[in-house]
Amino acid sequence: MADHWLRVNFSQHRGNEKRRIRRFWIFRPKAADDDMNSSLLKLGVNIDHAATVRQARGTDYPNIVAIAQAAEDGGADAITVHLREDRRHIQDCDVFELQRSISTHLNLELAATDEMVDIACRLKPRACCIVPERRAELTTEGGLDAVGLFDRLQLHCRKLSEAGIEVALFLDPELKQIECAANLGVPTIELHTGTYASAPAGSDQAKELETLNAAVTQASARGLRVNAGHGLHYDNVAAIAAIDEINELNIGHSIVAAALFCGVEDAVRRMQGVLRGARQ
Ligand code: PXP
Repeated sequence: MADHWLRVNFSQHRGNEKRRIRRFWIFRPKAADDDMNSSLLKLGVNIDHAATVRQARGTDYPNIVAIAQAAEDGGADAITVHLREDRRHIQDCDVFELQRSISTHLNLELAATDEMVDIACRLKPRACCIVPERRAELTTEGGLDAVGLFDRLQLHCRKLSEAGIEVALFLDPELKQIECAANLGVPTIELHTGTYASAPAGSDQAKELETLNAAVTQASARGLRVNAGHGLHYDNVAAIAAIDEINELNIGHSIVAAALFCGVEDAVRRMQGVLRGARQ
């Protein structure tokens, strides 16, 4: 199937009121359909924290493009970066240089702001993921409130789709948020695995896994492609990777930490080994 435009119809419930059905077009790149049909679990490597090391001293090393290329050599299927509003790690010039240089594709995480959407539309990465952002947070702390931000997301998603970018929303595994993403007509969601990752091993973690499983089932039934990520590491990722309908995991901090011992290429290769093992 070639690149094509897809017409999306949706209505929205607010209390007892059903708002009128609207209709718009989203761009569906051919690559998105090819990926959708592939049963292989993909790994997006988030290299934000390589940039954190650079920004800590204001140096020009480590070279972010070289880090991305080493991740690709280790088997990364995509390079993920979060251009935060406070530019605490990845900088504007990084995203443009990565887009020119990498041989896989860029997945840009961005806040739902006009500034970020404008940058994404100029950059035109193959994929982007809209995430919530608070200046004081150490890292992304949870999923978007897609229900509360419906009108703003609708505008941003349309703009990004019209620029040919495959849009994902980063969501907690909550049924109402997933329903909202389906109503917004985005092709993809990324489920926040942070609560699962930080739950104590045992019954608490098993419960979070169950919640994630239910969310994946619901999203797949609504025709959404499902990615997942946050807080995943070599010892907790297998249970998530074993969920067949998950298309891609985005993993950063644990890979960059492991790379201090074995280098980026090996750290990514090891993670890919865990993912492949979980799918066998
Ligand atoms: N996915 C999203 C949407 C994120 O915001 C992040 C963190 O930037 C990740 C995945 C990767 O999380 P971690 O660094 O904990 O692996």
